[in-house]
Amino acid sequence: MSDGAAADGAALVRAFEAAGQGQVFAFLGGLAPGDRRHLLGQAAEIDLAEVARLNAGLAAGATAGPGGDSDLKPAPFERLPAGGGDRAAWERARAAGEAALRAGRVAAFTVAGGQGTRLGYDGPKGAFPVTPVRGKPLFEVFAHKILAAGRCWGRPFHWFIMTSHQNHAATEAFFSERSWFGLDPARVHFFRQGRMPAVDFNGRILLEAPGAVALSPDGHGGSLRALERSGALDLMAAEGVDTISYFQVDNPLVHCTDPAFIGWHLLRGSEMSSKMVPKAYPEEKLGHFCIREGRLVVIEYSDLPIELQRLREPDGSLRFGAGSVAIHVLDRDFVRRMARPSGERMMPFHRAEKKIPTIDGSGRPLRPDRANGIKFELFVFDALPFARNPVVIEARRADDFSPVKNAEGVDSPRTCREDQLRKFARWLKGAGAALETDGTGLPGLSVEVSPLFGFDEASFAEGWAKLDPKPAVADGFYLE
Ligand code: UD1
Repeated sequence: MSDGAAADGAALVRAFEAAGQGQVFAFLGGLAPGDRRHLLGQAAEIDLAEVARLNAGLAAGATAGPGGDSDLKPAPFERLPAGGGDRAAWERARAAGEAALRAGRVAAFTVAGGQGTRLGYDGPKGAFPVTPVRGKPLFEVFAHKILAAGRCWGRPFHWFIMTSHQNHAATEAFFSERSWFGLDPARVHFFRQGRMPAVDFNGRILLEAPGAVALSPDGHGGSLRALERSGALDLMAAEGVDTISYFQVDNPLVHCTDPAFIGWHLLRGSEMSSKMVPKAYPEEKLGHFCIREGRLVVIEYSDLPIELQRLREPDGSLRFGAGSVAIHVLDRDFVRRMARPSGERMMPFHRAEKKIPTIDGSGRPLRPDRANGIKFELFVFDALPFARNPVVIEARRADDFSPVKNAEGVDSPRTCREDQLRKFARWLKGAGAALETDGTGLPGLSVEVSPLFGFDEASFAEGWAKLDPKPAVADGFYLE
């Protein structure tokens, strides 16, 4: 280690000691040079003032996110024309969104830092195969939607992808092996999300090994500061991008760059906008759009009392029925403001008590059988209460939402495959193709439409109209 690095190391150790976190360096003297550098590097990532603030919250018994449900109201949203919404307003929104897309003002953004634990898939979740005929991975579906939409609007998109330390290299390698799915690699940007240290119940930072802090991803809300830190916002500014179309890696149905949604956001002068679907049943695991103290908030399914989730209006609909599909549009400058929090503008960290592998006082591994500490995460929707003019619009579930989260049951590869089949069958039937479907719209055959042929119903219909002769639809039918 150079003298300069040693001096920096000594300063870091002093700072941790002064913050009451000197245990992080308990084994420093005995570490090999590589481990020593690794530990100091990790420690330099930690914002001690932030940890102290979180610990003060723990001592005060603060809970994650906003508390108290007495003043809670359902959030208003723009209904789809089919459900009574203002058709002319939707058309104006679509036109405004299309103009922004043609002007190159929009970038796509995927959060893909999660660990996919529930799915039990070993690898970046975006590499998981999902489409019904070709078994294309999630990343390929998004890539081709982005490629096709870029061609349609005459402006290739920039696509930003947030990874984690754990899956960053594997994600980049996956794209490189697949030649970036035909996208211009100069327009695909990967960056890592930040990490937070886990603490014990006394707020002391835990080590997972003598030379390693127990660090974990800081949640998808960490994307706002990671966009800033990585230089992504500067790149957007230089490229004339001021509008960010945000979606999760788990949902292949998503309309990656939806003109009407972008248009609502722009026409309303909104800094952050969101899509909702009516919850399918009270216990569905979605966040809820609500108004609390005059501000738009999302309250997670795990945080809203089940009695409130089951509450119905006189017409039978769920009172808190606006479910979040985790699709947002964000203003670039708003992201920059949120990435540099000030006193009144700070997103809350959510805490989760977990079993955290750690070490004992002599450096031996401890594998706890019950929760021994706390992990901290930021949620992106906690930025909504800070946004000017936030708008929520209704989405059609069949068009926009069927995530892959669990290995089996709801939101699984099977349900997602069936929802894709229903969507392709609906498009084909709408265009006049002969295809049998059951009462739920599910075809008896496997069919698939590449986004390169049609990335939404309108572009599909346009492509189909040009086919002469029309192909026969048989099992395994694939259009590109
Ligand atoms: C999420 C939302 C929920 C919404 C639902 C819709 C939360 C807490 N809840 O639930 O309100 O109704 O989706 O499907 O978000 N990710 C990162 N880094 C992280 C953690 C997650 O990039 O540190 C990404 C994942 O890769 C994934 C997305 O965020 O793309 C969602 O994460 P996940 O933990 O699966 O959220 P859900 O509980 O499914």
